[in-house]
Amino acid sequence: MISRRNFMQSSVALAMSMPLATLVSKARADGVIELRAQKISKKLAGESYAASQLWLYNGKSPGPEIRVKQGQRARVHFTNELDEPTSIHWHGIRIDNAMDGVSGLTQAAVPSGGTFEYDFVAPDAGTFWYHAHNNSWNQVARGLYGALIIEEPEPVVDRDHDLTLMLDDWRLEDDGTLHLASMGSFMDWSHAGRLGNWITVNGTSQPEFKLNAGENYRLRLINACNARVIQISPAAINALILGYDGFVFDRPAQPDNDTLSMAPAQRVDLLINQPLAGQSELNDIGEFALQELSGQNPLSLAKFSFSGARKTRQQAALKLTPNSIRMPDLDNAVNVPLIMTGGAMGRMGTVSYKGKPLGRDDVMRTKQVWAFNGVANLADEPLFQVERGQTVVIKTENKTGWIHGMHVHGHHFRILSRQRKELPSMHWRDTFIIDGDETVEIAFVADNPGKWLLHCHMLEHAAAGMQTWFEVV
Ligand code: C2O
Ligand code: CU
Repeated sequence: MISRRNFMQSSVALAMSMPLATLVSKARADGVIELRAQKISKKLAGESYAASQLWLYNGKSPGPEIRVKQGQRARVHFTNELDEPTSIHWHGIRIDNAMDGVSGLTQAAVPSGGTFEYDFVAPDAGTFWYHAHNNSWNQVARGLYGALIIEEPEPVVDRDHDLTLMLDDWRLEDDGTLHLASMGSFMDWSHAGRLGNWITVNGTSQPEFKLNAGENYRLRLINACNARVIQISPAAINALILGYDGFVFDRPAQPDNDTLSMAPAQRVDLLINQPLAGQSELNDIGEFALQELSGQNPLSLAKFSFSGARKTRQQAALKLTPNSIRMPDLDNAVNVPLIMTGGAMGRMGTVSYKGKPLGRDDVMRTKQVWAFNGVANLADEPLFQVERGQTVVIKTENKTGWIHGMHVHGHHFRILSRQRKELPSMHWRDTFIIDGDETVEIAFVADNPGKWLLHCHMLEHAAAGMQTWFEVV
């Protein structure tokens, strides 16, 4: 396998400049965006390595960045050119349920050769993404994802200063091809999920962004990894935090000195600017790297180099317009307990799967090793059903020894209490991190009718039992 060492050594060889407006989708004359899921061979690790068979939207990794103005209609004509069924989920959008793209819950999977018209209005501006939602553990690992940017009526920065960075970790063989033998491995499903050994940003290893000195840039970081919790340090690059999971704050926030964790599917918007002399520990520098800090050694994700005449730093002057969303009414909330069990070295207790008790001998065959409230995977009955407008508080108790990243479809929520202080509670999110043995309470107004998934976004965990659904009627 390509080791961390290789990652570091190849940093110089593979550094290349990225055009600023990279891979933006072009709508047809009638405004419809074409997306095709295709099998494409592509070199991931660099020219001297072999190509992998990937599954990509429009042959690109990541798929084309889709940009739509807030409140405008997005129309996507999707064609499935894969050999297996698939569907597209628009992650984090408070979308019409019929367009949520969850195979088997909100739509039938699009068969091989089939098409589907996605047609929705995105109510919120921000950084979102789209990805396959049928056997996602397999389809996303092979590359089926892209960025979905909903533009504010008044953008925070102009288009040249608005950079999307889609982060992914791929598991590669020594020859640089995608490691297929381990796809769906029981080991991954029951442990930390499929972790890669090769990190790309917008499909490239360690791209370099050439920026103008002293100007503000918005970085939209999207964690598209199957299972890796990426850790970054905004403070180390003198960045301000603009928002989480697509929802900007009312003003840019100063990061603390801790690292910021990004679970799979989470997004962080940052504002960067070349630090001026004396303003930062970085001194008067012409470049810096954004690093991934979850492993033993920091890995460089991307490099930013600055040139041109200096200007004064103006971050404070930025105006942010938060999305409008109803505050939960905690006094009249429906309380839903969610107990997570299972995983390696954990206990599942008595578990039902597809309406039947899951015997010890069934575990290897079904690969169901995690459960919510004693149920592995989707049951016929929802976890809860509420009327539209009802405030829901979900209290998640993680009785597994593993960290998870839990995603609620169709809604954004607030985190009410947690034992760790890392995520301030006043922010809206669509995915929250929960540590081993931790309890996290979230609250939201269930105001979007339909059947919604609630699952761990470590895609192997979801496949291995960590998913359920709820209904708003
Ligand atoms: Cu981003 Cu159910 O997914
Ligand atoms: Cu998980």
